[in-house]
Amino acid sequence: MAGDTWRQAAVAGSYLDGRRAHIPYAADQLQTMAELVGWFHPDPRSILDLGCGDGIAARVLLDRFPAASAVLVDHSGPMLERAQTAMASYAPRVRLVQADLSGALPSAATEARPDVIVSAYVIHHLPDERKQSLYAECFTALAPGGVFVNVEHVASATPELEALFDDGYCRNVAARTGRPYDEVLREYVTRPDRRDNLLTAVETQLEWLRGSGFRHVDCYFKWLELAVFGGVRPAGPLP
Ligand SMILES: C[S@@+](CC[C@H](N)C(=O)[O-])C[C@H]1O[C@@H](n2cnc3c(N)ncnc32)[C@H](O)[C@@H]1O
Repeated sequence: MAGDTWRQAAVAGSYLDGRRAHIPYAADQLQTMAELVGWFHPDPRSILDLGCGDGIAARVLLDRFPAASAVLVDHSGPMLERAQTAMASYAPRVRLVQADLSGALPSAATEARPDVIVSAYVIHHLPDERKQSLYAECFTALAPGGVFVNVEHVASATPELEALFDDGYCRNVAARTGRPYDEVLREYVTRPDRRDNLLTAVETQLEWLRGSGFRHVDCYFKWLELAVFGGVRPAGPLP
């Protein structure tokens, strides 16, 4: 199943307690996400975070938009346990839903008619056909005027650029942790969840979003394989 290794407590833990903090430009990506949301929807009430992990993307938005509530979806029990703890102080504004994004979005995720749908480093675990159908489902689920932002790991254009990304990523981890570069690189290329990465070029995904009806579709931020992209559901009646 797509992204299945994330159901293991060890994989969830090593990501949340280690790798998450070392993603290059991670704070800039989440800030870009929040700015996009605020620009197109200054007062969102309902947020959906797909593949929430411990809820980091939702927390950024709940802090910025105090009138908003959020539904957090993930298929991993260990991740949702961590989200339960990390989101405790937001409790009345948060609902956790266990669901596999390989299948259609559950009604528990969409019944609040989200003004905002975000996802961070998740959709690349789904095969291309499902990525595309999920974007279409997000368009349908969003309230008119709603915003979709995907903070994502995307494919490099060439093997040389992929090697540059791997090198830059591992140098960043080595510098932040003080660990030897070679050890970090070896761990990076052999980590168990790497096989769950089904990376797709950002240009392809932008076309899928446009094809679903989204406007203002663009890649708003990009560093090599890390991209923030999305679009807005038009506010008026659909053409
Ligand atoms: C790299 S983590 C990102 C977590 C969080 N969004 C963040 O930014 O830290 C990927 C998350 O996607 C979830 N995930 C992977 N495949 C999934 C699927 N098919 N359905 C639901 N969640 C999935 C994992 O359980 C994990 O929490």
